Order: sequence, then structure tokens, then C-alpha cells
Amino acid sequence: MKIAVGADHGGFSGKEKIVLHLRRLGYRVVDVGTTSPDSVDYPDYARLVAEQVAGKKCRRGVLLCGTGIGMAIAANKVHGIRAAVVWNPAVARLAAEHNDANVLCLSGRFFDDRQRIAMLDAWLSTPFAGGRHARRIRKIRAMEKSC
Ligand code: RB5
Repeated sequence: MKIAVGADHGGFSGKEKIVLHLRRLGYRVVDVGTTSPDSVDYPDYARLVAEQVAGKKCRRGVLLCGTGIGMAIAANKVHGIRAAVVWNPAVARLAAEHNDANVLCLSGRFFDDRQRIAMLDAWLSTPFAGGRHARRIRKIRAMEKSC
């Protein structure tokens, strides 16, 4: 599976660890930056990752900023993206199982690398449950056309 990963300065160091972790697990990673701890604007990276996923170049995306929130707000502007901010592995699992989240947004400032990787692994290893949840995803897709 190919995964796009991006971060601003608030998530830069966490992103570097996540890229290494994913590559170690055998995933193909598209690292869209940022490439240093210098200040940048999170919407630029959210857009790059979201477009990789929405354009089906990557199956999933991971975004990090200080809180994860700015990345989620920006990524969710791109049609087809369901970006979820998560705060523990159980929530990360539900983001996959119930919401079919295709982009995971993580805080670079409020968790350590071990906690972030536990959330990432929980999300990646959980399949979408379908059923009633698929109906709800269809309703979200319809909003992209009519709102
Ligand atoms: C940047 O200082 C910070 O605002 C950003 O990383 C993020 O937390 C936004 O949601």
C-alpha cells in the first residue's frame, strides 16, 4: 500500500519517525514534506497529501501538525477525503471501522512517538466495517455534491 505523509513544523519530527516506521513495515511512502523544523503553513501540506489520496495515487494519508486539527480542517476541504483527528488507539481504530477515515491527523505536540505509532498501527490494521456505516459515508459523499 502507498501512503502519503506530510507535516508542518509542529509535526515535522513526528513525521520523520512515522515515515521510517511505515517504510520498515514495507509501505511505499510519499513524503510531501516539510523537510525541516522551520515555520510553514499547514494547509499547503494538507492539500498535497489530500490530493494524493483523493486522486488515488496513494491509498491513505497521514498528516501531523501541532494539534492535528488544522490539518484535518484543511484536508477535509478536498472531496473524497475523510480526515480524522485521533487521540488514542481505540479512537484510531473507530476512525477506520466506523468512519472509513482515509487520512489520519496526529498531534506533533501532545503525544510522543510511541503514542503516535500506536495510533497509526491501530488505524492501519483495522478494516472498515461497512453495513450501516457505509450508508452514513454515502450521505457524507452526497453532501460533497449538494452543499
Ligand atoms: C502552528 O503553530 C500550529 O498552529 C499548527 O501546527 C497546528 O497545530 C494547527 O492546527
